Amino acid sequence: MTSRDIRQKYINFFLERKHKEIQPAKLVLDQDPTTLFTSAGMQPLVPFLLGENHPEGKRLVNSQPCFRSQDIEEVGDNRHTTFFEMLGNWSLGDYFKKDQLKWVWQFLTEELKLPKEKLHVSLFEGGDGVNKDQESLEIWSEAGVATSNIHFYNAKKNWWSLSGTPAQMQEGEIGGPDSEIFYEFDFIEHNQKFGEKCHPNCDCGRFLEIGNSVFIQYQKQSDGSLKELPNKNVDFGGGLERLAAVIKDDPDIFNTDLYSPIIRIIEKYSGKNYIDPTAQLNIRIIADHLKAATFLIVSGVTPSNKMQGYVLRRLIRRVAVKMHELRGSVKKEAIPTDAFEAACAYTVLEIYHGLFGIDKAIQKDLVVRTIVEEMEKFGKSLEKGLKEVQKLESIDGKAAFDLYQTFGFPLELTLELVSQKGQTIDKQEFEIEFKKHQDVSRSASAGVFKGGLAGHSDIEIKY
Ligand code: ALA
Repeated sequence: MTSRDIRQKYINFFLERKHKEIQPAKLVLDQDPTTLFTSAGMQPLVPFLLGENHPEGKRLVNSQPCFRSQDIEEVGDNRHTTFFEMLGNWSLGDYFKKDQLKWVWQFLTEELKLPKEKLHVSLFEGGDGVNKDQESLEIWSEAGVATSNIHFYNAKKNWWSLSGTPAQMQEGEIGGPDSEIFYEFDFIEHNQKFGEKCHPNCDCGRFLEIGNSVFIQYQKQSDGSLKELPNKNVDFGGGLERLAAVIKDDPDIFNTDLYSPIIRIIEKYSGKNYIDPTAQLNIRIIADHLKAATFLIVSGVTPSNKMQGYVLRRLIRRVAVKMHELRGSVKKEAIPTDAFEAACAYTVLEIYHGLFGIDKAIQKDLVVRTIVEEMEKFGKSLEKGLKEVQKLESIDGKAAFDLYQTFGFPLELTLELVSQKGQTIDKQEFEIEFKKHQDVSRSASAGVFKGGLAGHSDIEIKY
């Protein structure tokens, strides 16, 4: 089953249950002052979850491209990416827990034919004035989930809002308890480094979260309490990349058809093999960042020193560094001389051709030109900058600022390179240095929460 089959099956499944397919939102939000990117399928639906009538009705479905810049540090393992596709279905005050959980179960076990015994679910144990989710426990049990595969957690794990737990929610924000679904790779031994006992939310890799049904039914009040919304809503999000992996019983999303063609190109142009453990991390980062960069460019972003443009710049420059690291020990003759960025970008467009407004023939030139130009601009100073990092005995905020000012190294990139040498940088020192040189408008990053780039989204890079 291809990723296209899974996406279509999911949409069809909910169309058959009287849902309307809605257009996904733009990946880049220019009208929303609170965030830079769409990071969840529910984001554009907030007014309707609050009670406004949606023109398409009360049952909606789609697949939403999402970008989470806050996950950038986690990219490199077998399951985290900055860009991903979220399969979503919503009930705006229509069906609730009973239908939602039953349908998700049917979709996973009957349509995708995932083995029941490998699926685990989690539920909210109660707190913040909200009861333990006994109702969902009964629904899951009736559906056929073994009691041993049903797990209760507190708000840190089983409460969802864009900002996190009830305590983290901002005034007026909506959210609610949720029920996550995990797939268990029974051939992966638990690693005690992650805790004595394994459980669905353990990070050892034995369990992979594949979907989440959020029961959006509360709104945070100015006094900190939670008020019931007029409607009881459902907001489901399923990770397409992860579903494509688990149907093959493979914990690595980079082996799916959503990534493997990109990986093959990176292998060809880096001279390294994906199965080489010393190369795998960098190959995954490059694959994710180039895919995300392609989507951002198609969404109208150009590399710059501010907001979304800065995030794009950071992604492309990190690709340049990672590619440089990969090629380090490879003979020049073993690497094709034409631009690998072009091949990669074209491959990304090919994977999504015909979806999300992507047309590989129309957008190829723009994407390739944007990436190549940015790589070239940075490439001129890349080697010198890297040498400078290696040469410096210790890197203080001032040195980091110089690297940024002279060689165009985004602070986050310097931080990463420095941590590989076992050093750290005082970010405050960097900022003091930065302030000395620039008159910076901080307004853009001030209110950025999840989905945005905390920190240096508004810095200027000089050439
Ligand atoms: N909005 C929920 C999430 O992002 C489904 O996990």
